[in-house]
Amino acid sequence: MSMHGTSASSDQVINHLSLEDRLAEIIAQYRQERKLGKVVEYQTYQELKAVVANLNLEAGAEDLEQVWQMVTTYLANSVKTSHPQYFNQLWSGQSDAALIGGIVEVMANTSMYTYEVAPMATLVENQMLGVFKKKFGFESGEAQVTTGGSNSNYLALMLSLHHKFPQVKTSGLHTLPPVAVFVSQESHYSLDKAAVMLGIGTDSLYRIAVDERGAMSVDSLEQAIAQAKEDGRVPLCIVGTAGTTVRGAYDPFESLAEIAKAEEAWFHIDGAWGGGAVFADKEKRYLKGFELADSMAWDAHKMLGVPLMFAMLFVREAGHFDRVCNLGDTSYIFHADTEDRDLGPYSLQCGRRVDSFKCWLEYLYYGEAGFTKRINRFMALAEHAEAIILETPELELQSHRWINNICFRFTHPAISDLEAFNREVRNTLHQSGQSFVNVAYLDGEFTIRLIIANHEMTEKNINIFFKEWLTTARTLLPQYL
Ligand SMILES: Cc1ncc(COP(=O)(O)O)c(C=O)c1O
Repeated sequence: MSMHGTSASSDQVINHLSLEDRLAEIIAQYRQERKLGKVVEYQTYQELKAVVANLNLEAGAEDLEQVWQMVTTYLANSVKTSHPQYFNQLWSGQSDAALIGGIVEVMANTSMYTYEVAPMATLVENQMLGVFKKKFGFESGEAQVTTGGSNSNYLALMLSLHHKFPQVKTSGLHTLPPVAVFVSQESHYSLDKAAVMLGIGTDSLYRIAVDERGAMSVDSLEQAIAQAKEDGRVPLCIVGTAGTTVRGAYDPFESLAEIAKAEEAWFHIDGAWGGGAVFADKEKRYLKGFELADSMAWDAHKMLGVPLMFAMLFVREAGHFDRVCNLGDTSYIFHADTEDRDLGPYSLQCGRRVDSFKCWLEYLYYGEAGFTKRINRFMALAEHAEAIILETPELELQSHRWINNICFRFTHPAISDLEAFNREVRNTLHQSGQSFVNVAYLDGEFTIRLIIANHEMTEKNINIFFKEWLTTARTLLPQYL
């Protein structure tokens, strides 16, 4: 009996209800505030470290009050990534349906390896993979959910190696000749990591020059292949990018596929970001040649806006995952006496969280037509941002705009250090919490990279961003003259 004379089980009920009420309150408050006020209450690492150090927490106190206090502190010191002035990353925003899905994924805590522990999740994941395989033209092949675009790129390179040299599975790399992987100079850094993880090393990456719009130069690719062969390397894989990380460029896939075929090399497309253009009425034309790829990476948590993470790797021909990933004594987990369709044998992981449910709810709620509407809107908003840059003399569009990446800077003939100046404008807006945008380099030149990927963003938010940008720049300008 408890102090109040109630039974232990009714105490549990009361605690349980109060936990739910408390959680509901926090969610309601966060959802109300996530689009208002500052994007972030900026603090330096040291300042925030001091805040956390002063929280006076007691590990092992078994005190939920302390837990709730930490939740409040955590949220108050986090970036509001759904704020419509957040343009910083290749993802932002959140739909109601996906939020519900994300919460349920965590609450129902299970692992994707077996049907028996994740029956519904297995069916949901298979359905989502089926929908997207069809959309990207990989119906007759296979697909799997990975931990992200980086992991998909790694797995694709791994498949290419095992396809070319099946003996690598048992006898290892040292029995193979050196290989060469061809990537755009502006490809994602996950390919460097993939080369290291695969054990082929970064020297095996040949970085191909891009044209003035950021697309891989076919002439340079051919020269690099000739060079690699001269270096004694076997062409293993050509990686095209659909939507490069900084400027959103698309490589010439048809030409890349033709060259890969002639060289008997694997052709992988990293569409982690720009694959989402498949839903855009106009921009889907950039994906021409996708149907020729051996594999393709795509992240639904980027352009499509499903909360992090939901990433996939599509492969043209079925059977690769089984040959490469299905290994070891798994009798304790995958039971041969059932009809179950386990996904675990084909993954690089053992335990794997459920990522597909939030996307499934998003898909059920919006449908493919809703996805198309969303991505078309991003492109229209990006066009609006581009028009503002083009009609403002102090702003310069630094690269051709393909999709919803916009690269620009503020210029003035008397500013000697444009990088320092633009960096300060960006940091001022970030630290004041007004707008949050990223920086990058384009062929060594500093640029501001604006990404439009929040489905709740409107033209008004773009206008506010540029107004704030210009006001801040004009205020700081005298210090740079
Ligand atoms: C083109 C491209 N590929 C791969 C990745 C890596 O994706 P993830 O963050 O899901 O690992 C990114 C991330 O920005 C990207 O832009």
